[in-house]
Amino acid sequence: MTGPPLKLSLRGIRKSFEAKGTMLKVLDGVDIDVAEGGFLSVIGPSGCGKTTVFNIVAGLLEPDSGSVKVDGVAVDNLRGRVGYMMQKDLLFPWRTVLQNVLLGLELKKIPTAEARETALDYLATYGLSGFENAYPRTLSGGMRQRVALIRTLIGNPDILLLDEPFSALDYQTRLHLEGVLVDAVDQHRKTVILVTHDIDEAVALSRHVTVLSGRPTTVKANYAIELRERSPIGARSDPRFAEYFHALCAELDIQTHRKAA
Ligand SMILES: Nc1ncnc2c1ncn2[C@@H]1O[C@H](COP(=O)(O)OP(=O)(O)OP(=O)(O)O)[C@@H](O)[C@H]1O
Ligand SMILES: [Mg+2]
Repeated sequence: MTGPPLKLSLRGIRKSFEAKGTMLKVLDGVDIDVAEGGFLSVIGPSGCGKTTVFNIVAGLLEPDSGSVKVDGVAVDNLRGRVGYMMQKDLLFPWRTVLQNVLLGLELKKIPTAEARETALDYLATYGLSGFENAYPRTLSGGMRQRVALIRTLIGNPDILLLDEPFSALDYQTRLHLEGVLVDAVDQHRKTVILVTHDIDEAVALSRHVTVLSGRPTTVKANYAIELRERSPIGARSDPRFAEYFHALCAELDIQTHRKAA
């Protein structure tokens, strides 16, 4: 079988944390593959270790064992090579919106005028024009989330790790930004891993979905999502959408029909 080569491959990732004197086994041998240009969603119960997987890939945590390969080569530190949008937005409170967004480019030593122009373009696309000089504490949760997403995308990394990037957005803005993300990713051939609690979002955006079990966590199932439409609204109207949605709900033990009394 030939397809795009693997961009990122995790094998046998194990991680325990010490909690109150005992070891909490979180990841118990997790394997995840994403092809180059692929879009993978990872779903699983709260506390199963999704953020922990991201922290390991981003090089913020070391696994107890297991390997991380990028382009087929084992790496032990991906810091700086991935764009990581954390679950908790970590905007710097003393920096304005524009200064927060520019951080991603300052690290790359892009000339100031060019960086500023790029940043203002992004802010316009994400509906934040006019808020360049606002401070994070004066923004809504959804606005802060958009600033954090821009800061992740603007450095143009090959691999994006997005940990519930849309969770604070109203549905309308979410649909709009999902579309912006899918277009940006397809145009620039990014490789994306998205963590979401929203099964509807996982099906609409991804080409593959990995379902994690509860702790100690392993991969419970992998699905290839084959929908004709790529736009977030079009995908949701595809006849196969409901089929995938129900299958994934069943994997997570979510009842989608009311039981007869
Ligand atoms: N640095 C840490 N020290 C101790 N325990 C940790 C640490 N990081 C995570 N944990 C524990 O590991 C488990 C997995 O946490 P993690 O944040 O990865 O879950 P998650 O799947 O992202 O959950 P959610 O869907 O709620 O965001 C939790 O029980 C958490 O308490
Ligand atoms: Mg998490």
